[in-house]
Amino acid sequence: MHPHVKKILVSEEEIKKRSLELGKQITEDYNDSERKPLFIALLKGSVPFLAELIKHIDFDLEIDFMDVSSYEGTESLRDIRILKDLDRSILGESIVLVEDIVDTGRTVKEVTRLLMNKGATDVRVVSLLDKPSRREVEVSIDYIGFEIPNEFVIGFGLDFNELYRNLPFVGVLKDECYK
Ligand code: IMP
Repeated sequence: MHPHVKKILVSEEEIKKRSLELGKQITEDYNDSERKPLFIALLKGSVPFLAELIKHIDFDLEIDFMDVSSYEGTESLRDIRILKDLDRSILGESIVLVEDIVDTGRTVKEVTRLLMNKGATDVRVVSLLDKPSRREVEVSIDYIGFEIPNEFVIGFGLDFNELYRNLPFVGVLKDECYK
């Protein structure tokens, strides 16, 4: 195990198994839809999960990426800023939004609103991790990999100061590594 990791919360095997289940479920759910969804992944954290998930989606699909950052806007309300926008129009498209983790829920809520404003017909959310105890705004997540406790996690795309995204599991950092 990596020397900075205190414990593993979700193993590589568990992630693979769950991604397969979610992929099958999503495939099934869009079985009757003539128009298949466009998968939009939020950079950078959701990239490993997207790669694992789409191996198990059994219809032809397109992927696109967005990068957003949240910041304190006016009146201390958090807002999001688009760092990288989509490559093409999504007018009339069904979207599957792929996230690494839903924490306060603000990112998913704002991005969903943004995608609907861009003309998407519907947005479903798939997230590898869910930290429901941290939620500040109501969001519906259609597909959840794992519900985790209120701990800051790293690995499988998730970072601390841009590091640890390459770990093949989701784990908790040792306290001294936050300094
Ligand atoms: P939300 O808008 O608060 O739901 O936050 C979502 C984003 O915060 C995620 O896409 C992550 O980039 C980041 N984030 C939230 N919790 C963690 C964590 O435990 N580890 C790493 N990144 C996190």
